[in-house]
Amino acid sequence: MEYFTTTSGAARQTGQCVIVGVYENGKLSRGAEDMDVASHGAIRKLLKQGDLCDQLGSSRVLRNIEGVRAQRIVVVGLGDANELGVSQFRYALRSALDSLAGSKIKDIVNFLTLEDIEGSSAYYLARYTVETIHGKLYSFNNLKTGKTVGDIPVKKIGIAVASRSDATKAKLGATHADAISQGMKLARDLGNLPPNVCTPTYLAKTAQKLANSHGGLQTKILNEPEIRKLGMHSFLSVSNGSAEPAKLIVMQYKGGGKDKPVVLVGKGITFDSGGISLKPPPAMDEMKFDMCGAASVIAAIATVAILKLPINVNVVVPTCENLPGGTATRPGDIVESMSGQTIEILNTDAEGRLILCDALTYSRRFKPHTVIDVATLTGACVIALGHYRTAVMSPSDDLAAKITGAGIAADDRCWQMPMGPEYERLLRSNFADMANVGTREGGAITAACFLGKFTKGLNWAHLDIAGTASRSGVRKGATGRPVPVLSEFLLRHAGALP
Ligand code: BES
Ligand code: MN
Ligand code: ZN
Repeated sequence: MEYFTTTSGAARQTGQCVIVGVYENGKLSRGAEDMDVASHGAIRKLLKQGDLCDQLGSSRVLRNIEGVRAQRIVVVGLGDANELGVSQFRYALRSALDSLAGSKIKDIVNFLTLEDIEGSSAYYLARYTVETIHGKLYSFNNLKTGKTVGDIPVKKIGIAVASRSDATKAKLGATHADAISQGMKLARDLGNLPPNVCTPTYLAKTAQKLANSHGGLQTKILNEPEIRKLGMHSFLSVSNGSAEPAKLIVMQYKGGGKDKPVVLVGKGITFDSGGISLKPPPAMDEMKFDMCGAASVIAAIATVAILKLPINVNVVVPTCENLPGGTATRPGDIVESMSGQTIEILNTDAEGRLILCDALTYSRRFKPHTVIDVATLTGACVIALGHYRTAVMSPSDDLAAKITGAGIAADDRCWQMPMGPEYERLLRSNFADMANVGTREGGAITAACFLGKFTKGLNWAHLDIAGTASRSGVRKGATGRPVPVLSEFLLRHAGALP
């Protein structure tokens, strides 16, 4: 994809497609106003005659407007001018792209970036523009035979800016957004691949290939005997029922000299049947998305490598399948974790924490600045926050605030949930140092408290992405979240923002 900025008026902008907007009460966006003047009132006339709609997310495509040089104008409804925030901006842009579905447009210029959007800037509006368009253009059709409905073949994205200095910021925004979008595409592809293709071995190969194609990036894959030697019996207990070998993926990006690294740990269950504590059949196919934490941290380090950020980042991904079978772990089994603490496995479906606890212990060897784990960890999180916000849990309110702040800026929202001894006590076991489940109530929090028993002394946060990493229903598929918030966190850590 190519990106450019433009300071020219919307009417003078050449190309195949220019996006402008109209607000409720007849107010025009800056781009639309410019076109209205150039066309001696044609835009206002169409509005008056009812050909344009000012409702948020309703778009019309216009052609042959006199005085306007672009082949097409998409006029998007922007709703109430006082309520145009980031979410409305992106919603409007998506609707503009919807109205172009099936067309053969190769270039788009967004003039909505000239609007006043609360709490935003030229840099972020460029970023949202590029990320939104990439998100819209994404499709996962490679496993369908025959013809698929045409995607828009966009090759060039233009961003309207008000000044030269905004142009510089917008260009940086587009560069960052392109790398983030590449990361999101990788995360979505890995998530969407079927579990018979995206196995632990496949994930490991993908991580290896990334290291081969990006400078500063290294990947090391540990096999089962090596994992056993490290004492990761909790991790391996999850893999017992599966014929696919477990892998520990360790990636290292070195761009920050001797700085302490940020370590990202991702849950890589390539299929979660629940094991002996078997899940009920409805929507069990969606448990192929149980490796989205792994996909997002691999994608985030790839994004960092693409941007060559001056920081150190490590990724640790424990990956395996959770299947039942004659060799599978039983409820009641007790295992010793790499930390030495023993765990009574009361429910084999609470497997994410069993693989993560050993990966978190492993992360200590990097003497990390910060450790963030990312996991589709609990159904309880989906009940608590739905599909819109990722849960953040950390003993450090400071770190949690840094992540939620990054989430707001990246428009990849998070919400802090509490931790605490009341919850931690629910994990007590009669036979081992801890049980792997607490009560049903507060399930996302007890899961975090379980991980907290392995992160003492670390600057650590846990992201539960069970609700945000994938969608169900007609739009079933991986979302690429939380790659944007992770990237934003790392961009801030690198001091790479304007
Ligand atoms: N992978 C699931 C969590 C999940 C559920 C992710 C729904 C996405 C959508 C996890 O391994 C799991 O099964 N968790 C159990 C924990 C319980 C047994 C304590 C759950 O949430 O039911
Ligand atoms: Mn499970
Ligand atoms: Zn799981």
